[in-house]
Amino acid sequence: MSNSNDLTLNILLCVTGGIAAYKSADIIRRLQEHGAVVRVVMTESAEQFIGKVTLQALSGHPVYQNMFISDGRVMEHIDLARWADKILLAPATANTISKLANGQADDMISTLCLAADCTVYVAPSMNHAMWDNLATQNNIETLRARGIKIISPDSGDQACGETGEGRLKETGALVAELLTDSTILAGKKVVITAGPTREAIDPVRYISNHSSGKMGYALAQQARLAGAKVHVISGPSNLPQPAGIYFKNVTSANEMQDAVLEQVNDADIFISAAAVADYRPAEYIDNKIKKSSDTLEIKLIKNPDILANVSSKSNAPFCVGFAAETQNLEENARIKLTNKNLDMIVANYVGTSSSGNDIGFNSDKNSVTILTKTNTVNFPEASKNQLAKQIINLIAENYEKKHSS
Ligand code: C5P
Repeated sequence: MSNSNDLTLNILLCVTGGIAAYKSADIIRRLQEHGAVVRVVMTESAEQFIGKVTLQALSGHPVYQNMFISDGRVMEHIDLARWADKILLAPATANTISKLANGQADDMISTLCLAADCTVYVAPSMNHAMWDNLATQNNIETLRARGIKIISPDSGDQACGETGEGRLKETGALVAELLTDSTILAGKKVVITAGPTREAIDPVRYISNHSSGKMGYALAQQARLAGAKVHVISGPSNLPQPAGIYFKNVTSANEMQDAVLEQVNDADIFISAAAVADYRPAEYIDNKIKKSSDTLEIKLIKNPDILANVSSKSNAPFCVGFAAETQNLEENARIKLTNKNLDMIVANYVGTSSSGNDIGFNSDKNSVTILTKTNTVNFPEASKNQLAKQIINLIAENYEKKHSS
């Protein structure tokens, strides 16, 4: 993994020499639409089918090909393997598949696949007889047994004029398979609020808080990787949008509530990770307030409690709240779990951790205690990305429990 605190998804696309290599241009585009950063490596034979310059222009990065000549650096295969969150071979020829199965390392792609510590996805593309050949099928089984994910080819007309199984999987389906790590939330709609809200005082001033949106965005990415259809409703945040997610930007708590209510009716899970401002100015002043008096009073009124309004619906989804506390963490969180009628609450201290790090709001790290009606689970300090994965696993487990009982 490139950087466990970085929410961008780094995809290393390895293009080998089959006719479907021209489709790699579209694959790059689709991955970018999902917010992924794509770098490309190609074999020499792939260049017979698509130009290096095209892939360079589309990816916005140099295309890697030669192990030894590139900016004077000789360890690029290792650097690239470490940079990638996922490696995708598309199209993968019978030849490259055979090299991988045999652990060969005689070009950039086979070498970096050997050096990889992230998941490698292989999307085969070849003539149907080559695909059916026992040699290829045995190689595919060898790769599967090693944990390499095979994105199975489609059936249909082939470039050679014959018909059968071996066409590169259709780009949309290929990208969807690549962006899914597990199926624990497959088919589920997950709505997540993230970030702060801003409550306007006048045209230039507002009330807000230090929430960065990191936790909500990390949860969104992990829910997406677990197979869910994810809708994020986010207050103002500087973070890039996570890959493969429906996204709506809002500003105030009222706007956030409207957007949430539009989405939750058919949602399976609602995760309320936003730091919604509890109060807003009772009155919005149309013109900038002048600095005329020594003191200034702004009357505040309560904002809607979005989470409580969702959890009290007759068709409420599985509801997960967050509780940021500065004292009596577990006690206060359990009160919220009960009062807001939640299925789960993720509680964390905001302030300085025992190791001296700033945790909670606007930091990369967090340590949380998760409460359900019957259980308490502690997760020690970790990056928000690592925690998000654990939280999503626990949500999926408890969602299943609730619906199977
Ligand atoms: O009551 P408290 O604000 O501490 O509860 C926190 C939880 O409630 C969080 O999950 C937060 O997203 C949610 N919340 C909300 N609407 C509010 C205030 C908090 O949805 N107005």
